Amino acid sequence: MKKFFIQTFGCQMNVYDSDRLHATLATRGWAPTDKIETADLVILNTCSVREKATEKVFSHLGKINKLKKKYNLEMKIAVIGCVAKELGKVVRHRAPYVDYVFGPQSWHLLLGALENTPTLCDTGNYRLDKFKDLATVKTQAVSAFISIQEGCDNVCTYCIVPFTREREFSRDFDTVMKEVDQVVSNGAREIVFLGQNVNNYKDENGKNLADLIRATAKIELVKRIRYVTSYPTYLTDELIDLFGSEPKVMPFLNLPIQAGSNAVLKKMNRHYTREDYFAIIDKIKKVNPNVVVSSDLIVGFCGETEEDFQDTMDAAKRVPFLVSYSFKYSPRPHTPAQKAFKDDVNPKDKAERLKRLQDLLHRIQKDFNQACIGKTVEVLIDQDKGAGVFRGRSPYMQNVKIDTDKEGLLGEVVSVKIKDASSFLLYGELA
Ligand code: SAH
Ligand code: SF4
Ligand code: F3S
Repeated sequence: MKKFFIQTFGCQMNVYDSDRLHATLATRGWAPTDKIETADLVILNTCSVREKATEKVFSHLGKINKLKKKYNLEMKIAVIGCVAKELGKVVRHRAPYVDYVFGPQSWHLLLGALENTPTLCDTGNYRLDKFKDLATVKTQAVSAFISIQEGCDNVCTYCIVPFTREREFSRDFDTVMKEVDQVVSNGAREIVFLGQNVNNYKDENGKNLADLIRATAKIELVKRIRYVTSYPTYLTDELIDLFGSEPKVMPFLNLPIQAGSNAVLKKMNRHYTREDYFAIIDKIKKVNPNVVVSSDLIVGFCGETEEDFQDTMDAAKRVPFLVSYSFKYSPRPHTPAQKAFKDDVNPKDKAERLKRLQDLLHRIQKDFNQACIGKTVEVLIDQDKGAGVFRGRSPYMQNVKIDTDKEGLLGEVVSVKIKDASSFLLYGELA
């Protein structure tokens, strides 16, 4: 049996794509391997959101080529995903030993190419096609991710995603619900809907994300529902109301503000001000004061002053932001910012601002976690580590470790009395 190896970089959407490709190869007589040197086919599913991410792919490719030369000259190498789309044929100029190059909306073509084309580069936009002929993920995971919307029609000036993932499209409601049923019958108890602008999901019959959530909540075995990533101005009242009316919707929302200064937000072409953003948060908290918000944040965007940066720090404290990600601005090809603005915050300031922001986010998280000591939190158990150790997640995405002599907790929501906490982990016992 021929063997394949897939390595995935970047966002959850890439993980989802890789899982589907994995499932499909498995139904076509391929066997997975976790050792590159034994593989007949090596696939890198790549991310190009920051320059470092793109460069990482080429250093990996160099290593793979060494293994190919040493162990298996017949090894096929495929680069799929956002770097493939960003660079197209250039991937093969820089790494001529790469056989296949497919973008995020064309990687399904790899399956046919393996049978009849020795090398191929096609980074076209085939939209829903990749969902059609592919096996559904055979995930056994307690928490199952399902891509429902892809691409992006916003033009945030720093972002390459609208170029790599292309124009926005949504999958059909019935197909998504079929997939929900399938993953639930495989053991999923939490459904996480994925999209670049997931809250803007709308299928051809007008079904929206709230419709999907309500239909999913009716499935008895589903205990938790989440969705990522939301664009602030697409958060409808209908979605906000679900934080109050639907207990299966977790009180946790990823709503990236990106920057706290109105001048920077404008330059980023985000369609809201900080005041608009805070007003959305207030509205959510009115419906359910327990909702916790996470954000993605960029520091050192073109023209960002120390004062602008202080506005980001202030927003992080004010909301406050938990389980958040922060990055230094990295100019990307195919973006308006790269064409029109100067990347003029010096690297030292960028690094220093990132450190200050990350220290703050860290402190906020630590305080939040420590405030849980002595409390009882509901934990969905998603890992059985053996020897009575389980891992799971709180409603707020905190990692929780528990020791118990009980068995069979995988997929259960249990009450855990928290005994100890660090910035990354809560520790407790069954209440
Ligand atoms: N669709 C999502 C995010 C996609 S990219 C959204 O709109 O929020 C993931 C994160 O990478 C972004 O939220 C942003 O914070 C970061 N990012 C995107 N482009 C970047 C760049 N050029 N430099 C640094 N970070 C960037
Ligand atoms: Fe990128 Fe903005 Fe689209 Fe998110 S909304 S994918 S940050 S362009
Ligand atoms: Fe990266 Fe593409 Fe996702 S650029 S963040 S893999 S959409």
